[in-house]
Amino acid sequence: MAAHTAYWAAVLFLSLIGVWGFPTGPVFNRDPVCGYKSCPATQPSMLNVHLIPHTHDDVGWLKTVDQYFYGDRNEIQHAGVQYILDSVVEQLQKDPARRFIYVETAFFYRWWRRQNQATRKIVTQLVNEGRLEFINGGWCMSDEATTHYSAVIDQMTLGLRFLNDTFGECGRPRVAWHIDPFGHAREHASMFAQMGFDGFFFGRLDYQDKGRRIRTKEMEMLWRASDTLTPPTADLFTGILPNGYNPPDGFCWDQSCSDAPIRDDPDLEDYNVDQMVFKFLEVAESQATWYKTNHIVMTMGSDFQYENANMWYKNMDKLIHYVNAQQSNGSRVNVLYSTPSCYLQELHRANLTWPLKTDDFFPYADAAHDFWTGYFTSRPALKRYERESNSRLQTCNQLEVLGGPKSRRGPHGEGDSDTMRKAMAVAQHHDAVSGTEKQHVAYDYARRLATGWAHCEVLVSNSLAVLSGSDAPRIYCEGLNISVCPLTESSQKFTMTVYNPLGRAVTWSVRLPVNGTAYSVIDPRGKSVASEVIPVSKATQLIRRDRGYAMYELVFQVQAPPMGFSTYSISMLQTGPPAASPKFRAPRTIQNKYLKVTFDPDTGLLTSLSNLETLQTIKLSQNFYWYNASDGKNKDSDQPSGAYIFRPNSSTPFTVSKTAKIETVQNGVVQEVKQWFSPWISQVVRLYEDSRELELEWTVGPVPVDDDLGKEVITRLDTDILSSGYFYTDSNGREVLERRRDFRPTWDLFQSEPIAGNYYPVNSRVYIKDDANQLTVVTDRSQGGSSILNGSLEIMLHRRLLYDDNRGVGEPLSEPGENENGLVARGRLLLSLSKPATAADTHRPLAQSMVLQPLLSFQQGTLHPNTKLEFSGLQAALPPAVHLLTVSQWEKDLVLLRLEHQFQAKESKTYSQPVTVNLQKLFSTLDVLGASEMSLGANQWKDEMSRLDWKTSGGENMKPRKGMKGTGDAVPWEVTLNPMEIRTFLLRVQQR
Ligand SMILES: *[C@@H]1O[C@H](CO)[C@@H](O)[C@H](O)[C@H]1NC(C)=O
Ligand SMILES: *[C@@H]1O[C@H](CO)[C@@H](O)[C@H](O)[C@H]1NC(C)=O
Ligand SMILES: [Zn+2]
Repeated sequence: MAAHTAYWAAVLFLSLIGVWGFPTGPVFNRDPVCGYKSCPATQPSMLNVHLIPHTHDDVGWLKTVDQYFYGDRNEIQHAGVQYILDSVVEQLQKDPARRFIYVETAFFYRWWRRQNQATRKIVTQLVNEGRLEFINGGWCMSDEATTHYSAVIDQMTLGLRFLNDTFGECGRPRVAWHIDPFGHAREHASMFAQMGFDGFFFGRLDYQDKGRRIRTKEMEMLWRASDTLTPPTADLFTGILPNGYNPPDGFCWDQSCSDAPIRDDPDLEDYNVDQMVFKFLEVAESQATWYKTNHIVMTMGSDFQYENANMWYKNMDKLIHYVNAQQSNGSRVNVLYSTPSCYLQELHRANLTWPLKTDDFFPYADAAHDFWTGYFTSRPALKRYERESNSRLQTCNQLEVLGGPKSRRGPHGEGDSDTMRKAMAVAQHHDAVSGTEKQHVAYDYARRLATGWAHCEVLVSNSLAVLSGSDAPRIYCEGLNISVCPLTESSQKFTMTVYNPLGRAVTWSVRLPVNGTAYSVIDPRGKSVASEVIPVSKATQLIRRDRGYAMYELVFQVQAPPMGFSTYSISMLQTGPPAASPKFRAPRTIQNKYLKVTFDPDTGLLTSLSNLETLQTIKLSQNFYWYNASDGKNKDSDQPSGAYIFRPNSSTPFTVSKTAKIETVQNGVVQEVKQWFSPWISQVVRLYEDSRELELEWTVGPVPVDDDLGKEVITRLDTDILSSGYFYTDSNGREVLERRRDFRPTWDLFQSEPIAGNYYPVNSRVYIKDDANQLTVVTDRSQGGSSILNGSLEIMLHRRLLYDDNRGVGEPLSEPGENENGLVARGRLLLSLSKPATAADTHRPLAQSMVLQPLLSFQQGTLHPNTKLEFSGLQAALPPAVHLLTVSQWEKDLVLLRLEHQFQAKESKTYSQPVTVNLQKLFSTLDVLGASEMSLGANQWKDEMSRLDWKTSGGENMKPRKGMKGTGDAVPWEVTLNPMEIRTFLLRVQQR
């Protein structure tokens, strides 16, 4: 038997090197030999084919994450991850040559917790010998278009930490592995590089790009993933897998496949060894023509495969045996069990010069009319909920640190941040926040986030009780965006605590649902705050239905100190009729000290925007449109629009309405022009007294489909900015990339979809500019966006479709909403007009404050006089260039801190400079006793990071810089951050 032969060969070989005193090999070793050292030998003079046994286990898609784990609901999709791990572990033990990689820690964690000591010992041994290797290692394989960098770093940290805690150094993945995400973000590559990965492999890229790369042998490259960070900090070796992540045709031996097994008994019928070997050699030789070295890789596995791993291994054992047996007949092909890191090591040894890549891999099309640009917007409410949950998790993390142990167990009960951390990590998966899961799975993600928040809520209440001295019950209102909050609606007297998770003070406008017509608002220092009462809009009343009964909104501005809170006291003064009732026509202008906005009084639409400080004015008209989604019955292609794919039937969108019905409210605190476009689209154009941004609060839905037309709803801003086809979008909320209509930086584009083929992910901002003006739009969630016309920006807000797009999800994207008649989504766009040279000074902090929102909590009645009404966890605000990215309890007395320079090089005259922070002088209530610097993923000490270096043809070749001396050594208190740098520290702290 083939398996036997391989086994004895390995035993013999290893016994020999054991005798000679070389490092012990994978069979009888005592000390772990994992990582590159455990890689199998290859044949330098042959073509080496690295077989990579793997399974791709979606952390939720057609089934929920737990249904996938258990193998429940197999009528939807046959998939059970627990059986995969059971089966693989058993099969790995049968032959030390066999390898397996495991990727999704969310599943591995579930499985590991249920194993007994004996199994754990076996698994640890397999890991220590490199036979079972963790690759990527995040909690999930994140989506790259719609995730925000802070949540990606958190989810990677969670998975990598579990692996390090459980297996130590041998559990540390060397390679990032995003075989399925639908396009690849440059910021992801930058993060992976900073997490210490040596290389990155993926499967999906634009079909034109792939064709070109095959022709020019550029399937493997060095990705320089930052314009700002000094190479090789953000350099990542990147390889494109030959066959997506599937095995070559005819070589799939999973129970879910129907390819022929290797029938190698000549006495039985249908002996096929010669045929299989011949075919394999043919595939290998042909694949080798795409790549530069004498090593190629074959992914032997696919979605949820290896539930019966015996089938795979038995046939691969035979394949290896019979293909290599041909070497004695002169074959130059050597096939072996391997892993992505062992393949990577061989590429590194090849010592070649690799092409340089500096842009990204968006958008992704797998055929001429099949652009995966719909999911940038799919499930807008889930996308917003995920973004908001990130903000709440950061607040929860910070308050766990500030409140000490009492925050987990205190007057409000037992709370934790872990449930929320795991829910957020699961939500980063490439079928979660991406919006490409089935409806019941989308509900499951949302439910997990809600449960996570319920745990955090207790923790936050406990911590605020510790910090303020008031343990009176605390209420959180989740429905404030639709004017629902039972406490403020009914209470005559209450307090509101604003917690600010940012490292600098912010001013914030709040709107509370109330029923009185005049209120007194008192700030923490006893000063009265200007407030106004305005009616709740018709649109809001329609959405909230019977969940609330507030007639008015109380509007005022609040301030909260850095990483701290302010408590405001609010009491009702009057219930009579409001002073002013709304006007029913558009004003010609609304303005404050900073901005002036004009309207066409006849149509009710915007006509211009002026920045009164810089004396800039642009023409600005804005309206809502929808693309008619293709139903797939089309002469060019039968591709319909769906959860993944955006395919409008025509390049000209329909205008929802040429005019808007208007309601205007103007007072000293806020000016609002409410625009009603149709029963399913409305908007509030809102200018707060102290605001440098114009807020557009849009409400879209239920999108009507009774005309049998699927709709992709956009808003478009048309200006006189001379943008000439260029626009700019952020990558995962961080660095900004230049986009150009009908153009790709790295190949000559044949544009076959003039709209969908120009859409890009907008994570947090998009802008257009010319020499004089820059219009920046900051979004509150991930959306798709483009500039189809010069001077114009469009953002897709919502989509409701009637057909499945044939990419596996098997459902049309038609979210039922609460009433089954369609989901209503509401959100905000913030517009700022600036000089291009100083625009980043505004949009950087603005986007961060959109991501990390203040958390409001309410207490009934009045507070005890000794209650602390104002608190900051920092000694002073951080410098404007510095963003407080992570403050999170690591274990007792240890806090994980990430500080980030939030500006790119050259982006700002003022802020694109190195900036220094003193770690000891950071916190107001914590003494920092020691600090060690870590990799971005917090699974390695910075000074122990050493990455493989790669030579590139474009740009300079840089040797990786060595970290600082000593293991986890203390760093100096003064730490300097260069533009776009994130530094990760583990602090030893003590409560003052
Ligand atoms: C790699 O190639 C360079 C030339 O490009 C050569 O100088 C160097 O010695 C090679 N390194 C190894 C380890 O072969
Ligand atoms: C990794 O885990 C080991 C224990 O398994 C621990 O001693 C080490 O400090 C951890 N490394 C990091 C960087 O946290
Ligand atoms: Zn997947």
